[in-house]
Amino acid sequence: MESIIRDRSLAKSGQQKIRWVDHYMPTLNAIGDSLKKEQTFRGKTVVVSVHLEAKTAYLATVLSRAGANVVVTGSNPLSTQDDVAAALVEDGLTVYATYGCTEEDYFMYLHQALDHHPEIIIDDGGDLVGLLHTSRQDALENLLGGTEETTTGVNRLHGLDKAGKLRFPMIAANDSYCKYLFDNRYGTGQSTWDGIMRTTNLTVVGKKVVIGGYGWCGRGCAMRAKGLGAHVIVTEVDPIKAIEAVFDGFEVMPMAAAAKVGDIFVTLTGDKDVIRGEHMKEMKDGVLLANAGHFDVEINKPELEALAVRHFAARHNIEGYELPNGHIINLLADGRLVNLAAGDGHPAEIMDLSFAVQALAAKYILENHGTLENHVYVLPHTIDTEIASIKLKSMGYGIDTLSAEQRNYLNLD
Ligand code: NAI
Repeated sequence: MESIIRDRSLAKSGQQKIRWVDHYMPTLNAIGDSLKKEQTFRGKTVVVSVHLEAKTAYLATVLSRAGANVVVTGSNPLSTQDDVAAALVEDGLTVYATYGCTEEDYFMYLHQALDHHPEIIIDDGGDLVGLLHTSRQDALENLLGGTEETTTGVNRLHGLDKAGKLRFPMIAANDSYCKYLFDNRYGTGQSTWDGIMRTTNLTVVGKKVVIGGYGWCGRGCAMRAKGLGAHVIVTEVDPIKAIEAVFDGFEVMPMAAAAKVGDIFVTLTGDKDVIRGEHMKEMKDGVLLANAGHFDVEINKPELEALAVRHFAARHNIEGYELPNGHIINLLADGRLVNLAAGDGHPAEIMDLSFAVQALAAKYILENHGTLENHVYVLPHTIDTEIASIKLKSMGYGIDTLSAEQRNYLNLD
């Protein structure tokens, strides 16, 4: 089946981007070498539905070199990079993804990917899994299982699992230490600010930054905002996370109060309606609203549109909304995850870990599907430590090893 991408002639730029990240992904490279040697995925079809930029393309390439028939699609209409998609097609992979496609086309691409009846899926946010439980149950035919990249997708999987409706085993790749401790915290922390800064070309220093949600992503984003010189305010719904934020040195208050003082708002909760019309009415003139949570539901855009007397393109990827009081509210990247829709996503060194987890999770499914039930699993801790050991070595760090006496003292055996 023919790929659907924007323009195959963009391949050269995409190949350059993939070569660049390859150099900074030593863990995935080491794992990829052994998968290639074993031809682990020979004859298996793997559908990858992850934000289609260079690091994802490199993961797809690693799986392809390990023998898989890899079919790639995006996981958000605004995060696909057309040149990267073209590079993959040039390398013989099948791709269904275009930047800025309609919601309808986005789902059509997912359908087209599922038409390949995969043995393994790599999902990011749960849209692929959603289809496999509704209109595309025909594509369950060969499916052994899959892996899920992000918190929101894992939450959706747990919903299906609790209801006894999950139709195949899924690995919560997000819940491996080598994923969320680094990707959600340090990856989102850096790339969210990269997206905001390159899109606005404004300062962060001296600004009041409001971070909605102090989970793994929120922590990283708050930490980096502080490092950039911002005054950081956190909003939360969980009293324990709120205490953590206070002890980390941040102000904590409800969004209703934060709305009146903030200059830049970033939502990272996985929840909906974190910033609503009632908050927008209270905001200062010229504020920036950005979301880094998986779906574009954290900032209530329909309420913003309903409140506004007019809206206009303020800058590439920024829409300005004028409220009746004359204040302008600037929405970045249409409320979609700002680090990917207005940037290149997480740094390569971070995705080195996340995609090492994904590659080994796919292998785990292949080798263990016979014993796995239709539930959500986390990879064994030994896989996490294997990945961490390769990464640590590649970074030039050594650590101590426990002696037999120490292991015994710690009751580890
Ligand atoms: P998490 O579960 O660790 O943290 C979410 C936090 O938000 C929790 O502390 C929760 O109490 C809080 N929260 C929930 N509703 C809230 C509300 N209405 N107001 C204030 N706080 C609220 O989740 P994690 O891992 O930090 O992920 C957050 C979101 O970011 C998810 O949608 C996830 O899929 C996404 N994500 C995005 C990435 C990116 O590249 N932009 C990377 C990784 C995750």
